[in-house]
Amino acid sequence: MKKKWWHEKIGYQIYPKSFLDTNGDGVGDLTGVIEKLPYLEQLGVDILWLSPVYPSPMVDNGYDISDYENIDPRFGTLEDMDRLIAEAKKREMYILMDLVVNHCSDEHEWFQQAIKDPDGKYGNFFYIRDKKDDKAPCNWRSYFGGPVWEELPGHPDKQYLHVFHKKQPDLNWENPEVREEVYKNIRWWMEKGLGGFRIDAIINIKKKLPFSDYPADRADGLCSVGRMLEEAEGIGEFLGEMAEKCFHPYDAFTVGEVFNEKEDEIKDFIGENGYFSSMFDFEETCYGKSEDGWYASKPYLTPEEYKKCIFHTQKKIGDTGMISNIIENHDEPRGVCHYISPEDRCPDSRKLLAGVYFLLKGIPFIYQGQEIGMENMEFTSMDQIDDISTIDEYQVALRAGCSEKEALDAASAFSRDNARTPVQWSAEKNAGFSEGEPWLGVNPNYKEINVKSQLTDSDSLLSFYKKLTALRKAPEYKETLVYGTFAPYQEEQKNLIAYTRNGEKNLLILGNMQAQSQKVSLPGEVKEVLLNNQKAVEITEKEIILKPYQFIVLETAV
Ligand code: GLC
Ligand code: CA
Repeated sequence: MKKKWWHEKIGYQIYPKSFLDTNGDGVGDLTGVIEKLPYLEQLGVDILWLSPVYPSPMVDNGYDISDYENIDPRFGTLEDMDRLIAEAKKREMYILMDLVVNHCSDEHEWFQQAIKDPDGKYGNFFYIRDKKDDKAPCNWRSYFGGPVWEELPGHPDKQYLHVFHKKQPDLNWENPEVREEVYKNIRWWMEKGLGGFRIDAIINIKKKLPFSDYPADRADGLCSVGRMLEEAEGIGEFLGEMAEKCFHPYDAFTVGEVFNEKEDEIKDFIGENGYFSSMFDFEETCYGKSEDGWYASKPYLTPEEYKKCIFHTQKKIGDTGMISNIIENHDEPRGVCHYISPEDRCPDSRKLLAGVYFLLKGIPFIYQGQEIGMENMEFTSMDQIDDISTIDEYQVALRAGCSEKEALDAASAFSRDNARTPVQWSAEKNAGFSEGEPWLGVNPNYKEINVKSQLTDSDSLLSFYKKLTALRKAPEYKETLVYGTFAPYQEEQKNLIAYTRNGEKNLLILGNMQAQSQKVSLPGEVKEVLLNNQKAVEITEKEIILKPYQFIVLETAV
């Protein structure tokens, strides 16, 4: 694999609204991010992805952008952003912004112009169609519920397409003028010294045209957009053009939010000269999610299910490129609640999960608060929910016949707000997030789980994450952990998640995800124990006995 500057880096996702509020308005801000750079540097992360901070009406918390070349005053100013980029650079850290270009906000100037003159230049920036016999052009269901078609304001005879919320009209990527505008915005940011972008919902930019119906997959008579995406061909032309015009000239690091990619396309996406540097692995994220909705989905994975997912991705990617590995992001439940069953949840199993995903081949990303093991919120009422997707899924559950309690349980297990509660910095007021009233309720467990107490505890999850980042960067092991091959180890052994990484060194990563000890045979002589989430190690010549929830990294002779 040809070496790139970002291969050795470690990612960290910031959801600015919930990170740190420095002016008491209850909303996190860029100054808050700048203030915590020393903390992030100590943690050992160096690529910081910021969820959107552009001006936005905030129906989808910034994923509805009304101006691509500015900063929302809630978060600060363009000068703050420049300062953040510069301060990060001093610490050899890189800033990624979120590139949300499948759609913009309906309050964006382009859409406002389209409303004024649907037949003019900006009408063609969107998918606007005449209503025929009061029928929509197709029966796709938007990701946030309801049909993807909405009446164009002021034009009862016309409708526009939105695969997300109706306040997020889709941009017409078939129109070269749209693409040029998007590229111009990207280059404008790259010129400011960004490290690159995380690329939102990008797989949706290519629609299967002309619009047509698919068999309904729920009682609402609609069909998931995903069904259409399976048949949409030719996204590569757009992505290749964007990479060539915007990313390659700057040697940018880009990580795509790519779902539904076809297996033979992986090389085009993240191979050498791929459209993106990397893309997230969502195999375990998607596992157990039902087409019917959250109420019918699995609230957590068993160790065997989790292993199956991560190993499948690792084998599939091989040496083709660098995948990005996560256990959390702003759209998912907290990792410790989703990938560890309630019976198995304890300090050691949390470290085990951290270690297992972090040392896989690829770029590890940590989501804010994950490093201290922040947990899902136990929502007791829908009034505590802000997220549009959760509000929709609650209704989906009720319509499917769930009781209010069951619908709320489903919402709680999967709500995107689980990951969006304010970061728990300390045991003080509002978890040290804000002097004012936080925009979203703080998780009541902040007195037990917070950064301040874990910083001084050498046995904390935070300290363990620091050991992981240090190991991945250690001069003797870096080459192996970044470029070394991945191979499953004793894959059939139940509740054992084990793999090898072989390069300049031979590393064996072992995790015993059960409440009983288990014996594992060793491939050969053990040279050194590099990391252990417990004190003892029980190794004989040919075997190791792993204690309940023990996680261990060994350097072996072969
Ligand atoms: C992506 C984002 C999500 C957002 C959606 C629409 O999936 O991660 O938060 O709601 O795109 O932009
Ligand atoms: Ca603020």
